[in-house]
Amino acid sequence: MQTAAIAFDRFKPLQDDACESRILAAKAALGKRAVILGHHYQRADVYKHADLSGDSLGLSKLATQTDADYIVFCGVHFMAEVADILSRPEQTAILPDMSAGCSMADMASLAKVERVWREIATVLDPDEHVTPITYINSAADLKAFCGEHGGIVCTSSNAQLILDWAMRRREKVLFFPDQHLGRWSGYMNGIKPDEMLVWDFDEPMGGLTVEQIKKARILLWKGHCSVHQMFQAQHIINFRDQYPDGMVISHPECNFEVCKLSDYVGSTDFILKTLKEAKPGTRWLVGTELNLVNRMAELLKPEGKVVQFMAPTVCMCSTMARIDPQHLAWALENLVEGRVVNPIRVPAREAELARTALKRMLEVV
Ligand code: 13P
Ligand code: SF4
Repeated sequence: MQTAAIAFDRFKPLQDDACESRILAAKAALGKRAVILGHHYQRADVYKHADLSGDSLGLSKLATQTDADYIVFCGVHFMAEVADILSRPEQTAILPDMSAGCSMADMASLAKVERVWREIATVLDPDEHVTPITYINSAADLKAFCGEHGGIVCTSSNAQLILDWAMRRREKVLFFPDQHLGRWSGYMNGIKPDEMLVWDFDEPMGGLTVEQIKKARILLWKGHCSVHQMFQAQHIINFRDQYPDGMVISHPECNFEVCKLSDYVGSTDFILKTLKEAKPGTRWLVGTELNLVNRMAELLKPEGKVVQFMAPTVCMCSTMARIDPQHLAWALENLVEGRVVNPIRVPAREAELARTALKRMLEVV
């Protein structure tokens, strides 16, 4: 009979260095049976234990490739769900702290999306005219909704290609939950600003008229990332005044003005690659999460590159930061004892439909 899991309370008071040695010991004991995947925003004291790291697209591909029995996800809930959906049934995805969510993903729910779909249906048949695209930063049931309605998933690194795929099939797109990624991708694909309208899910019919809905090509869900909304055009203007030769790079979750003023816009992986490949002696202003920026600033300092954070205030992905060394040590030590804590298990039917939408994406990129 399996004994009860070791309680997290025993790990809570541990100092970080004590956790460090326990994580290393547990990893050594588990060997290839467990793989730790880490998102680039993960705090440094956890990120250093990741066997593999990546952006959301890279991590979802890694989940299909690993042979490990346990995929320990140091990221947020939707990422671990994707790992569960794309891995084999006998593998188990684990999220060391279940409260590591994504505030943007929480801005769209299945009930709200279904209501919007019904509202659109009073104007035109959405299953004939509208492709739903969900950003990977969303719950599994929204990916399932897209799977069921001829839709698809996108990430920050492939959103333009996915949007193009969608618009070749049906003339309109409902893009959720991040309006900024949707708008930037539409703009980059040549869609006019007045053809991209925000759907305010708190208003009947999104606050739009029938004529507006008929004319729109992209309906943008009124969602955003609480971290990336902190970056503002004025930060870039100030930087350029001070450092006319400086370069600016941003994540597409930033607002349209920030993206437009940036020299480069792309996913976390793209940002890392661009900074690493930059010429020595260059100076960069970076509009994305603080842990990533701090890590790059340290790494590239010896090459004479200056990497600076875009906002004057601290903006971290505080939900991802809930995966701390204490939770990682707790999850791993339980695995060593043969006990799985915090497994992520998407219900079978939902997983099947979500897999359809994810696989459509993976066939495009
Ligand atoms: P990436 O896919 O670029 O890693 O972004 C994930 C994310 O949550 C950004 O806020
Ligand atoms: Fe979600 Fe924003 Fe955190 Fe990315 S940075 S995981 S979008 S809350």
